[in-house]
Amino acid sequence: MAFEREKENAAVAALEFVEDGMTIGLGTGSTAKFFVEALAEEVADGLMVKGVPTSEETRRLAESLGITLLPVEQVDRIHVTVDGADEVDGDAQLIKGGGAALLREKIIANASDLMIVIADPSKQVEVLGAFPLPVEVTPFGFTITAKKVYDALQAAGVNRPRIEVRTGGGNKPVITDGGNFILDCRCSVIPDVPKAAALLSTIPGVVEHGLFIGLARTVIIGSDDGASIFEY
Ligand code: A5P
Repeated sequence: MAFEREKENAAVAALEFVEDGMTIGLGTGSTAKFFVEALAEEVADGLMVKGVPTSEETRRLAESLGITLLPVEQVDRIHVTVDGADEVDGDAQLIKGGGAALLREKIIANASDLMIVIADPSKQVEVLGAFPLPVEVTPFGFTITAKKVYDALQAAGVNRPRIEVRTGGGNKPVITDGGNFILDCRCSVIPDVPKAAALLSTIPGVVEHGLFIGLARTVIIGSDDGASIFEY
């Protein structure tokens, strides 16, 4: 797998933001997996924290590694969330949802005192959009919703987005942890990210979109021999 060392170094660097007694949002994806594994080692050495997973996949991993988890309904404060991203720009705006967990990820990030993004250098971009933007939609009416998503992206300056329902095994639609579909929107470039986010949020049938704006305040980019930390 590409950039494994960089991902792991970013994940390990995020541990310096973790303190005894914290409740920690646990992200989803291959970079977040390194963080969960590194955190589990600290827990095994006596660190007392509780985790709030952003997906069933992360819940299973964290449980298997012995991290105490809190059901989300019992959470009253999340001190820090550590998660990966598919793209991050110079203003810490993100595309997320490559792992189909964007809804829970956004709920948890938005409820956290601090969201830290951990990533390898390939995730850094000048302008968001090369990675297909995931948009989570209800299965009911998804073809209608997809047309509205197309219109919204065009109105936000995206030139002819190409939109596909994400499929998995047997060419069936991928079902998210929330029971929804994912539309992958190939934009190439998203020239006005706030406008695209605002327009997508108005569409009935759109449960959530993968544009994360104003959520990440710390971005850690791993390198071959360490990590760089950027604060926003
Ligand atoms: C999960 O839905 C995503 O938001 C991930 O955080 C994102 O896809 C990054 O994943 P990797 O760390 O595997 O690249």
